[in-house]
Amino acid sequence: MSIQTIEEMNGLKAAADAVAIALRKMQAYAGVGMSTKEIDEYGYQILQSFGANPAPKKDYNFPGWTCISINHEACHGIPSEHRILKEGDLVNIDVSAELNGFYADNGGSFILGQDYQNLQPLVRASQDILHLALAKIKHGVRISAVGGLIEKEARKRGFQVIRNICGHGIGRKLHESPDEIPCYRDLFNRERFTKNAVVAIETFISTGAKYVYEEEDGWTLSTDDDSFVAQHEHTIVVTEGEPIILTIENGI
Ligand code: CO
Ligand code: CO
Repeated sequence: MSIQTIEEMNGLKAAADAVAIALRKMQAYAGVGMSTKEIDEYGYQILQSFGANPAPKKDYNFPGWTCISINHEACHGIPSEHRILKEGDLVNIDVSAELNGFYADNGGSFILGQDYQNLQPLVRASQDILHLALAKIKHGVRISAVGGLIEKEARKRGFQVIRNICGHGIGRKLHESPDEIPCYRDLFNRERFTKNAVVAIETFISTGAKYVYEEEDGWTLSTDDDSFVAQHEHTIVVTEGEPIILTIENGI
């Protein structure tokens, strides 16, 4: 969506606060030996306390309230009571919700406990590259230029980007135009960021793979070569200067 009124801005900010707080509380709550279902249910309670409705369920009938993806899974992991978190797991939690007709989307990867798999550089790269991308986005900038920056910065750090999952427009639905904000320079994408547009910017940084594939569950997207994927995502409003990051809290 393109924000036209202060009421729309306030509505979006309320939705963004709900997902941002839910995400940070879920990350803090996650512990070794816990199931991803327990974390998901905890997140649902927080979203409910704001009156917010989980977007994956509402818009796509996803079998969970949030997406929790581990290690080689890049996104859309289904929370399950059988999926138990282990020390050193690379965990991604992605929270999106609707509140009073407005949608926001916020995600982040982290390492649970001791970094046994030595993945902290990957997580840090994803986090840093998201902020580099956000700093470049303003009215008139090509979407492909931001993708090019994400790809270049990933390679500089010895990583790759996943090419078949991307950021997206958001606001009145979870996914709106622009449909694809890729993590690479897509030369066929001639679109530009425009002032007042609400977009979700996501990094998908990997230790090797460039593509992810759907698991038999029909939702989870994973690498097929054991590479790990880290993702960080913020919902922002494009301006003529620095974007307004709606899902940010305490600068994280
Ligand atoms: Co998301
Ligand atoms: Co998203």
